[in-house]
Amino acid sequence: MARYELQRNLLKSNFIEFKKIKTDKMKGIQKPPIVKPYDPNSTIIELPSVSDEAVKHASIFDCIRDRRSTRFYSQDSLSLSELSYLLWATQGITATNKAGLTLRTVPCSGATHSFETYLFIQRVEGLQEGIYRYLPVEHKLLFMFELSEMDQKIDEITLEQPFVPNFAKKAAVVFAWSTTPYRSEWKYDISAHKKILIDVGHVCQNLYLASESVGAGACAIGIYDQKLIDEILELDGEEEFVLYLAAVGKKRN
Ligand SMILES: Cc1cc2nc3c(=O)[nH]c(=O)nc-3n(C[C@H](O)[C@H](O)[C@H](O)COP(=O)(O)O)c2cc1C
Repeated sequence: MARYELQRNLLKSNFIEFKKIKTDKMKGIQKPPIVKPYDPNSTIIELPSVSDEAVKHASIFDCIRDRRSTRFYSQDSLSLSELSYLLWATQGITATNKAGLTLRTVPCSGATHSFETYLFIQRVEGLQEGIYRYLPVEHKLLFMFELSEMDQKIDEITLEQPFVPNFAKKAAVVFAWSTTPYRSEWKYDISAHKKILIDVGHVCQNLYLASESVGAGACAIGIYDQKLIDEILELDGEEEFVLYLAAVGKKRN
């Protein structure tokens, strides 16, 4: 069908066309920042250093086997150590390569890591409710602002959910990953976009497995209001926009 054509083409490899293109990197244009800059006067929150102490299910086998999309949560909060671990598991930096690019707990095409992690925090011990951004280089949190009636806003953002209506607003934390496509386009030009979509899947899968390992559950969310969440997070919707969400909370017994 004609209306599928464009969308299906995005799924295919265009490496041969890409090889004919002179990318911005080849043109000698300066590499974009590897992470989004921030105002050093912002409120910055230290995160506990990451260790496997938070992990209850030590076995990766158990986590892979038991992982399910979890849409019912207890009222329990996540501890700050658990949140720290989930952030590290999804975007934590574990090394830097010779080109100065970050290597993280998730693979990423060309190590371009075009994502930022925003958090809608409702129940994390020691943190006030609000919108936060993860700073992966520092492994810290940046407090952005309070959001009144956050649960209602999450509900509006996540539209009509087909499996369990309104589940996301009851999560302890909703992760929202944005992409800044140019971080990848600079290097991969027309091949960047398929790679970005694949890359973000790895991030969310690590959230599922890491959540499982601390007795929490996650659920990916692809159904959301693009304009509304970009507006709430103060993203321009072109150079940076939300790509994927996931709700996390402690499992109900
Ligand atoms: C890209 C993607 C988007 C998804 N979006 C939603 C969503 O908006 N709402 C929801 O309840 N589940 C969503 N899910 C979860 C799937 O429904 C779930 O993975 C699927 O039903 C299989 O169940 P399981 O994860 O428990 O194995 C999404 C999963 C993926 C991978």
